Amino acid sequence: MKAIVWTKYGPPEGLQLQEVETPTPKENEILIKIQAATVTAGDCEVRDLTLAPMFRLPFRLYFGWRKPRRITVLGQELAGDVVAVGKNVTQFQVGDPVFAATGLRLGAYAEFTCLPVRSAMTLVWPKPVNMSYEEAATIPTGGMNAIHFLRKAKVQPGEKVLINGAGGSIGTYGVQIAKAWGAEVTAVDSASKLEMLRTVGADHVIDYTQEDFTRRGERYDVVIDVVGKSSFGRTVRCLRANGRYILGNPTLSGMFRAAWTNRTTDKQVIFEAASYQPEDVRLLLGLIEAGKIKVVIDRRYPLVNMAEAHRYVETGQKKGNVVITVMNVKDNHFQK
Ligand SMILES: NC(=O)c1ccc[n+]([C@@H]2O[C@H](COP(=O)([O-])OP(=O)(O)OC[C@H]3O[C@@H](n4cnc5c(N)ncnc54)[C@H](OP(=O)(O)O)[C@@H]3O)[C@@H](O)[C@H]2O)c1
Repeated sequence: MKAIVWTKYGPPEGLQLQEVETPTPKENEILIKIQAATVTAGDCEVRDLTLAPMFRLPFRLYFGWRKPRRITVLGQELAGDVVAVGKNVTQFQVGDPVFAATGLRLGAYAEFTCLPVRSAMTLVWPKPVNMSYEEAATIPTGGMNAIHFLRKAKVQPGEKVLINGAGGSIGTYGVQIAKAWGAEVTAVDSASKLEMLRTVGADHVIDYTQEDFTRRGERYDVVIDVVGKSSFGRTVRCLRANGRYILGNPTLSGMFRAAWTNRTTDKQVIFEAASYQPEDVRLLLGLIEAGKIKVVIDRRYPLVNMAEAHRYVETGQKKGNVVITVMNVKDNHFQK
């Protein structure tokens, strides 16, 4: 099969189209023919190891010290069709359309991948009928993180929710979920994303390059800082009584300050990483099936143009999601 091989830690040019062996499913695994995958901000951070410092050493130990060895194909989310099942698999059949999160196995930048059907670290779920493969591929990162953060924040109808970094994968789902739950939503991002954020339902928008939301004198019931760029102290101070502050991108110091704030104030700071709880998946799919979520797809790239897709995501201009179309890969030419 064709795959985009991650040949080194560094710039997008290290992502190269190569022929690799098609995997064979183990007893509890399915083989998926991938139709669509995505390039997230997280993929770029893993590719060149520009992750938060506390993750760099463990990731190098896991992927390979000098270059990626244990894992050589990136990509953490996908949608496609089941084409083979292991002998113990009863949940899926050949032909089933699915979406999936590959967890630390990665591997979505390829024509095929194998995934276990039951694992706390990965997710495989039937694709919603009212979504295309391209839309469904965005569910694990954007949708699952957003629903996890909003559920942890226990958002109630009528509450004021602010999402910092709202214009990306997680934020565009977050705005729509919060609106569907009856919140009044303020979306913070750069100017080029604000019109799109209004179209997906934001009641108020703030351009963070012009104005710091923590200095406006507004108070919120919930602040979700997807990007982890706002001042910790000032964000806590702009919460209402019993307000909740979600650290989507926590640092070590943020975790210590969260523990202190939780002990000493009536505010709650939460930094629990998202996992693929079935109740979160069902909650999100309920909103998707009810037509409450419109997936924002900014650009689509064929698999062969992966390096270009990474370069675009790194510009920071991405609105919502960037999708990779995997079908019909033939040498270096994309077949329409
Ligand atoms: N905790 C978890 O479980 C978890 C899971 C997945 C991802 N993450 C992390 O969450 C972060 C966001 O993920 P994502 O996929 O939604 O990223 P994304 O698609 O890149 O979206 C992030 C958005 O934040 C904006 N932004 C950048 N700096 C900002 C600032 N100072 N103030 C306000 N907005 C700002 C960006 O716009 P501009 O570039 O135009 O400024 C962009 O629109 C990533 O860093 C990722 O590593 C956390």
